[in-house]
Amino acid sequence: MEKIRTFIAIDLPAHLLEQINQLQKDLIPFTNLLLKWTKPENIHLTLKFLGDVERCKLDEVYKAIREIAYTEVPFTLFINGFGVFPNLKQPRIVWVGIERCESLNNIVHHIEEKLLSLGFESENRPFNPHLTVGRIKHYCSAKESLYLSDVLDSAKIIKGSFSVTEIILYQSNLKPGGPIYSRLMVGSFSV
Ligand code: 2AM
Repeated sequence: MEKIRTFIAIDLPAHLLEQINQLQKDLIPFTNLLLKWTKPENIHLTLKFLGDVERCKLDEVYKAIREIAYTEVPFTLFINGFGVFPNLKQPRIVWVGIERCESLNNIVHHIEEKLLSLGFESENRPFNPHLTVGRIKHYCSAKESLYLSDVLDSAKIIKGSFSVTEIILYQSNLKPGGPIYSRLMVGSFSV
């Protein structure tokens, strides 16, 4: 049975992707060292990673997303600031923050609940809304960590809001040059 690697996400408008791209440019001195950027077109807020899904199960997933989107969107999200996971001593991911709000909590809760009823595993890590804008692939020396911290301190603050009007089921195709994400279906507030 063919399986498709999928995840559910929210896309960002172009004006915010531009701000994020500016942060990436501010961090260019770091790029040569160890940072691998997320391509702007690959930046999104992941609501749930489904992993490999049997193709025959996708119709149920589409239906669930359509129903959830219909009741939960539109709502407004705020992006604010950036930082690293898990910490500055051992940075692995450079992220841009998404502010928590009731609408976001509700939609994530609803997705978890619905997909659990379809037989998907529930997420055991707490939901931590973020946009991954860069990944650090190698061990970071104390000097490099300090340098990254300085560069982040001097980068331009990111702030903005946007209206979420759709949630998207993405297919992720892992390629040597990086993942390729393509839209499988879109759920929105209009049927
Ligand atoms: P991340 O950006 O925080 O790594 C596609 O891989 C998307 O699904 C990414 O945005 C990634 O989030 C998210 N994701 C969540 N859990 C994942 C997992 N176990 N493996 C791969 N991606 C995962």
